[in-house]
Amino acid sequence: MNNYVTVTADDRLESRDGAIKLHGPDGFAGMRRAGRLAAEILDALTAQVVPGITTREIDDIVHRMTIAGGGVPATLGYRGYTRSCCTSINHVVCHGIPGDKALKDGDIVNVDVTPIVDGWHGDTSRMFLVGEVPIKARKLVDVTYECLMLGLAQARPGNRIGDIANAIQTHAEKHRYSVVRDFCGHGVGRLFHDAPEIVHAGRPGTGPELRPGMIFTVEPMINIGKADCKLLDDGWTAVTRDRSLSAQFEHSIGITDDGHEVFTQSPTGRDQPPYA
Ligand code: MF3
Ligand code: CO
Ligand code: CO
Repeated sequence: MNNYVTVTADDRLESRDGAIKLHGPDGFAGMRRAGRLAAEILDALTAQVVPGITTREIDDIVHRMTIAGGGVPATLGYRGYTRSCCTSINHVVCHGIPGDKALKDGDIVNVDVTPIVDGWHGDTSRMFLVGEVPIKARKLVDVTYECLMLGLAQARPGNRIGDIANAIQTHAEKHRYSVVRDFCGHGVGRLFHDAPEIVHAGRPGTGPELRPGMIFTVEPMINIGKADCKLLDDGWTAVTRDRSLSAQFEHSIGITDDGHEVFTQSPTGRDQPPYA
C-alpha cells in the first residue's frame, strides 16, 4: 500500500517517509514558473548546440540563463555535482558532466536542466541533433520522444505508474530498443528527487495509483542495444555497457482532476527535434 499526504500552502516539510505528496494550487503555480524557465533555457540552446560548441559552453549558457531567470541550478552542489546541467552524448545514458569536449557533426546529445524557482524544481531534458545526424540515431531520438508522449498519455487519475511504464516499454520494444532500468523518473516539487519512483518499464495496472495533485517527472532512457549501464570512474557518467546509442526526453508534470498538466512544455513548440 502507498501512503499519500496532502501538502498545504505553508508546508515546508521535506521528507515524509516516502509518502506520495498531493500538491495544491500553490504547488502547481510554483511548478508552472520553474517549468517555464526550464523550457525557455532548452529553447535558447536550440540555436547554440552546433558542431564545435563544448559542453562547458552549454553549461555556461544554462547557468547564466538560470540566474537571469531568477532561479538557481539544482544540480550545482547536488551530492558533489559541480555543474548547472547534464550533457549526455551518444552512448552516455545520463548524468554526463559538462567539460572540454566539443560536440561534433553527427552527435546526439541530451541536455538536462533543473532550475529552482521560489523553491520549486523544474526538471526537463531534450535531445539535440548536432549537424547532420545519421538516420539510425535520428530514429532512436524520434522513438524516444514518442515513448515519452505515449507514457504521458497514460498520466491521469485512476491509472497507475505501471500504465505509464508499459506504454513506454511496449513502444520501445516494438522498435527492438531497450528501456534503461537503472534510472527512473521521480516525484519532484520542493524536493529535487521525491517519492514515488516512476519506472519506465512494467506491467499495466501495477504500482502506485495516480491521484490529482501528484507532481513527478517522466524521463525514459532508451538504448539501441541492451539495457545494461555502467558508471564511469567520475562517479556520475552512466554509459551503455555495449556502447550503443542512448536517448532521453524528460518532462515534469502534475496530475489534474481529468488528466495531467505538463509544466515544462516548450513555449515555442520546440519539444522535439529538429528545432529549426
Ligand atoms: N536532472 C536529473 C534528473 O532528471 C538529475 C541530475 S542530478 C546530477 O533527475 F547531479 F547529475 F546533475
Ligand atoms: Co528528473
Ligand atoms: Co532531469
